[in-house]
Amino acid sequence: MNFVILTLFPDMISAMFGDGVLKKAIDKGKISVTPVNIRAFAEGKHQVTDDTPYGGGCGMVMKPEPITAAIRSVKAEFPDAYTILLTPQGRTFSQKTAEELLSYKTLVLVCGRYEGVDERIVEEWVDDEISIGDYVLTGGEPAAAVIVDAIARLRPGVLGGESSAKEDSFSDGLLEYPQYTRPRSFEGAGVPDILLSGDHAKIRRWRRESSLTRTLLKRPELLNDFALSKEDIEFLKRLRSRIEKIL
Ligand code: ADE
Repeated sequence: MNFVILTLFPDMISAMFGDGVLKKAIDKGKISVTPVNIRAFAEGKHQVTDDTPYGGGCGMVMKPEPITAAIRSVKAEFPDAYTILLTPQGRTFSQKTAEELLSYKTLVLVCGRYEGVDERIVEEWVDDEISIGDYVLTGGEPAAAVIVDAIARLRPGVLGGESSAKEDSFSDGLLEYPQYTRPRSFEGAGVPDILLSGDHAKIRRWRRESSLTRTLLKRPELLNDFALSKEDIEFLKRLRSRIEKIL
C-alpha cells in the first residue's frame, strides 16, 4: 500500500516514519510512505505557495497552482489514487475509517497549512476530507501521520504477530483487557493469579470479562454498537447490578 503525503514540510513526515515498526514495514516493502514537497511545484524565483485571501481577513491561504501540479504528478504515477484532505472540517477519523481506507492501493494525503487551501482544490481534486478530532492543529502533517499509522498497522505483515492488530482496543469494538509481564511482583503489586494458572479457557474468559468491564466503565457508548453474545449480556447484567449496589 502506498501513502503519498503532499506537504510543505517533507522532513516532518520523514522523521515520523524513520523509526520503529513502520520504518521496518517500509524497509521490507510492505508499505511505502512518500513525502512530496508542494513547494517543489511552485513557480518563480521564490516558489510562493500561499497568498492573502480574496475578500480580506487574516491569515494566508495555500495557492491552488502548486497543489494542483503536485496532485497531477502523483496521479500520473498512481491514476487510481484516493485523495484525502486533512482538515478539521472533515469527517472524524476512527478505527472504522482506518479499516475502510485499507482497501485502497494508494492514498494521497494533502496537508493544509495556514488558514486552509484554496476551495477549488477541494472541488476539483479531493475525494474525502478527514479530521483526527475536534481541535485545530497548525497543519495536517500530524494528522496524516496518525492516519498512515492506524491504517498501515492493519496491513498483513506490518505487525510482528498476525493476531496483534485483531486483539487491540476498538478492533472488535471493545477496549482491550489489562496486560502484565515480568516481574511477577513489582513494588508490592502482583499479577492476577488466573494469568499464571495455565488454564487457557479461564484466561480467555477473564480477558473477555475484563474487556467488557473496562468498556462499561470507561466508554459505555461503545457497547451500543457491539454485537454482544448471550454470555456477555449475562455478565454485564451481573456487573451492572453489582455496581448499582455499591452506588
Ligand atoms: N488540520 C488542522 N487541524 C486538523 C485536524 N484536527 N484534523 C486533521 N487535519 C487538521
